[in-house]
Amino acid sequence: MSDIITIQNLRFRWPGNSVDTLSIEMLNIKAGEKVFIRGASGAGKTTLLNLLSGVAEANSGLISVLGHEIKRLRPAARDHFRAQHIGYIFQAFNLIPYLTMVQNVALACHFSKERKQRVLKRATSLDAEIHRLLDHLELNDERLLHKPVTTLSIGQQQRVAAARALIGQPELIIADEPTSALDSDRRQRFLELLFQEVENCGSTLVFVSHDASLEKLFDRSVRLSELKQARELQP
Ligand SMILES: Nc1ncnc2c1ncn2[C@@H]1O[C@H](COP(=O)(O)OP(=O)(O)OP(=O)(O)O)[C@@H](O)[C@H]1O
Ligand SMILES: [Mg+2]
Repeated sequence: MSDIITIQNLRFRWPGNSVDTLSIEMLNIKAGEKVFIRGASGAGKTTLLNLLSGVAEANSGLISVLGHEIKRLRPAARDHFRAQHIGYIFQAFNLIPYLTMVQNVALACHFSKERKQRVLKRATSLDAEIHRLLDHLELNDERLLHKPVTTLSIGQQQRVAAARALIGQPELIIADEPTSALDSDRRQRFLELLFQEVENCGSTLVFVSHDASLEKLFDRSVRLSELKQARELQP
């Protein structure tokens, strides 16, 4: 299978910091893999996901996603690439507070006509697919569907964020510690549902967390600290 993500000799430092936040010699992820990236708080997990999705730009090195070197894309093309190919479950969910669950999920298709077309290939309407996803994520409760998302529990908001990332079958699903607010039973259940959707779509999943108890559920686990460039590890 071909690589969907290639990282080589990556270095990234937030402005004002005296050391590199990230320094990765090599990381390759194949299409269809479910990869767990583990790192302590502050290790740079969210930063890595920002770099993969083109929200931040590396100081040096190569990042290629689906054969595109992200930094070579112009800003508008980068935004379009992200909307079309990447479903991002943010650490803080980033749902639009005054919109309902259904409207928040629909938004991903508003920003990418390709994803909307993919929905319409497999479902009778966008609304039908949104309801199927919400139902599968155990959210299809009439009383909740049309309330502003801020009135939902954290666990419910997290599943809305997952539905928004999954709709329209983006090739790459990026999940930034989306289970941290859940108890362990709900965490396991959420992952099962997420994995089923990812497998149905043939998507690749990159999931970052500090929670080591989850890593056995994934095809592969990578420690951020072990990806550091050799010279970083020398005393
Ligand atoms: N916008 C920013 N400007 C400057 N420094 C930043 C910024 N965002 C993150 N950092 C720094 O980069 C480092 C890595 O942060 P990052 O958010 O990637 O960690 P993380 O592994 O996602 O942590 P957590 O598990 O707590 O979410 C931290 O030291 C943080 O202070
Ligand atoms: Mg983080």
